[in-house]
Amino acid sequence: MKKIQINSSATIFENLSELPKEDFDLMHCAIEARRKAYAPYSKFNVGAALLLNNGKIMTGNNQENAAYPSGMCAERVAIWKAGSEFPDMIVKKIAITAASSETEVNKPVGPCGACRQTLSEYEINQKQPIEIIFMGEIGQVVKTESLLSLLPFSFDSSYL
Ligand code: THU
Repeated sequence: MKKIQINSSATIFENLSELPKEDFDLMHCAIEARRKAYAPYSKFNVGAALLLNNGKIMTGNNQENAAYPSGMCAERVAIWKAGSEFPDMIVKKIAITAASSETEVNKPVGPCGACRQTLSEYEINQKQPIEIIFMGEIGQVVKTESLLSLLPFSFDSSYL
């Protein structure tokens, strides 16, 4: 028996304006996308923006449904939109932001487990890390250097 240590690190920025320019600009695209979210049930609007290494930015937002489980998260809308348009894409980074009409979202909102799993497939295939940058509506911004650093012991195609 042995115990192992799992390390992952994140950079915390005190607010949006501390971000490097490329990340700041990408987060603004995510904010624009968030404003167009369709979230009449949860009132929790999420926006995501991906920067591809061809320079293209692809955005997405959550799309809810009266049959609740039929809705979809912003991150998966964005990455599937990107993957369907650019099947050979390399994703450099993704910015994510969330805001609610019910409460002030003032702490960073990380991607849900299903979105982490979905993003991990792309990170593994492209053999290059995807930086994840996430925030609420205001307040701190978290940046991690890869998706897999957020998802230790993840499931992948090697098990199949
Ligand atoms: N949501 C996202 O868009 N991304 C996440 O990573 C977590 C949750 C959406 C789904 C749903 O429309 C709303 O937020 C509340 O869960």
